[in-house]
Amino acid sequence: MKVLIIVGSAKQFSHTHALAQFVRGNLEEEGAEVTVFDLYEKPIPFLDVSGQHLNDERIKLNASELRESADEADAIIIGTPNYHGSYSGILKNGLDHLTMDQFKMKPVGLICNSGGMRSTEPLSHLRIIMRNLLGIAVPVQISTQDADFGKTEDGTYYVDVDDIKLRVKLFSEQIVKLIKNNPWIESEEVHS
Ligand SMILES: Cc1cc2nc3c(=O)[nH]c(=O)nc-3n(C[C@H](O)[C@H](O)[C@H](O)COP(=O)(O)O)c2cc1C
Repeated sequence: MKVLIIVGSAKQFSHTHALAQFVRGNLEEEGAEVTVFDLYEKPIPFLDVSGQHLNDERIKLNASELRESADEADAIIIGTPNYHGSYSGILKNGLDHLTMDQFKMKPVGLICNSGGMRSTEPLSHLRIIMRNLLGIAVPVQISTQDADFGKTEDGTYYVDVDDIKLRVKLFSEQIVKLIKNNPWIESEEVHS
């Protein structure tokens, strides 16, 4: 049971990354094997459909790694910061490198962090994208704000609000239940 979490913040050690790590912990407790793909740590080139521009080999490899991880995943979680009331451009570019092949009939979880106050707008926008990629966006979603996080001495954020922790638990349970009962996933490992 493999889950890929894509993080689309333009910031290193972002709140979205911290939320993704917390989700990862919950999913691992449910028995999932989780990969976090942070698009800040592994930048990928702007989509170049015509292939006329030379791109750095390293970041081309990142794009392939993202596609392979998405291919292998039984469920995908998309994490975005709130940028101008929507998802980030970095995330959209990352998604543009993927196709229906990676999302078709897979459960998709949506998570988001906003600076000022919790917002579901970026998540609603992502739901429309998921419909177009034929992913199954699950009903429970997670929306945080900066104030929901504490910070360690080395500057790492961590989720610090009980309501959010509870929501992450419900969210993770829902993703795992959908993976285990997904008639489009045939692997015995998933259904056992
Ligand atoms: C380009 C840009 C646009 C932003 N627009 C919004 C916004 O519309 N609403 C909001 O609450 N915060 C906005 N913010 C603030 C971010 O949501 C905030 O910095 C948040 O901490 C980002 O999460 P992260 O740490 O996961 O990157 C914006 C930040 C940037 C860089």
